[in-house]
Amino acid sequence: MSQSVATSVRRKVKFIDYSYWYNIEKEEIDAILQDCLSRGQLLLRDEVESFESNLAKYVGTKYAVATSNCTDSLRLSLTAAGIGPGDEVITSAHTFAATVAAIEQVGAEPVLADIKSDDHLIDIESVKRLITSKTRCIIPVSLNGRVADLEEIEDLAADHEILLIEDAAQGLGGYRNGRMAGSFGIAGCFSFYPAKTLGALGDAGAITTNSEDMYNKLIALRNHNRTSDGDIKKWGFNCRLDNIQAAVLDFRLTRLEEYIKKRRHIASMYHEGLNEIEEIMLPPNDRNDRENRDAYQNFELEAKNRDELLNFLKAEGIEIILPWGGKAIHQFSAFHGDSSYLWVTDRVFDQIMTLPMHVALKDDEVEYVIELVRQFYGI
Ligand SMILES: Cc1ncc(COP(=O)(O)O)c(C=O)c1O
Repeated sequence: MSQSVATSVRRKVKFIDYSYWYNIEKEEIDAILQDCLSRGQLLLRDEVESFESNLAKYVGTKYAVATSNCTDSLRLSLTAAGIGPGDEVITSAHTFAATVAAIEQVGAEPVLADIKSDDHLIDIESVKRLITSKTRCIIPVSLNGRVADLEEIEDLAADHEILLIEDAAQGLGGYRNGRMAGSFGIAGCFSFYPAKTLGALGDAGAITTNSEDMYNKLIALRNHNRTSDGDIKKWGFNCRLDNIQAAVLDFRLTRLEEYIKKRRHIASMYHEGLNEIEEIMLPPNDRNDRENRDAYQNFELEAKNRDELLNFLKAEGIEIILPWGGKAIHQFSAFHGDSSYLWVTDRVFDQIMTLPMHVALKDDEVEYVIELVRQFYGI
């Protein structure tokens, strides 16, 4: 392994460049903000409805409900589906704390499924072993812009009369067999946190659904559970999306395909440049064809001597992120359930890392990262 820097020019490569994204769209974003603010359009106005309608169209569902963030989307969806105390909800051990927090917040019990070693997505075989008479819902997570095995999980859920709610926080724009992430379950929960493929100017989220009943419940729940007759039969939440965020997201949604194209280009460069390194396990090759696509929210790989590689890259100015700070769900002390069978997750988390990936990343920056990784492994 290389201990010295052989690259000619040392430079910084950011994991995500928020200011660049704003600056390349400054004219449009500034005009949107000015328009909304000068007209006093702040909450639940036309822009929210327009974004909801365009998002539903994009995902291929009948409805979309804009929310404050994906954590709230998950909590609202579980609440609307009637899940609560006494119920078990199966999700992936490799997810953000939010998925499990939402399950706990409605009073249900989170049960963690192991992941697959190739794509790090929820393993349906593990899910099957965890189903009990108390299982009410499965929340598969479409991580890194890669759709989980949702058709198979959809069938499994139907066979056992279990509900399917998608954590599609990182899934927007990914599809399998022509179906978009967010269009499989009774609810698809999205995040538009600024780092996401469709990023807002702060926190933002949405829920997609084909169920009119879920839609009506979600629309009420996000706004204190007020019904059209002005009554409140059960207390709700304030999980509304700000109007200016909706307007910006509606604009960025028109560019989403461009953003995804860029991410896929970066991913193909990483694939090509790192492919021959035996110590690295890359994400499975891109399944892009007319029916399948990975949106590459993140480029997550496994690397032998990960910690040394991380330190080496950091010293060279490359910003690297460990998913969830390096901890799977059961490695946080807040989790008290069984984790004795999470063999793959445990192994993967010793080696996992994500490389810089954002719309403003330049080819020469990607080449620089590749060059350094190759150098570290002596290639
Ligand atoms: C898989 C997953 N689920 C849920 C969330 C929560 O999203 P938000 O930050 O919008 O609440 C995130 C955010 O990073 C996520 O990656």
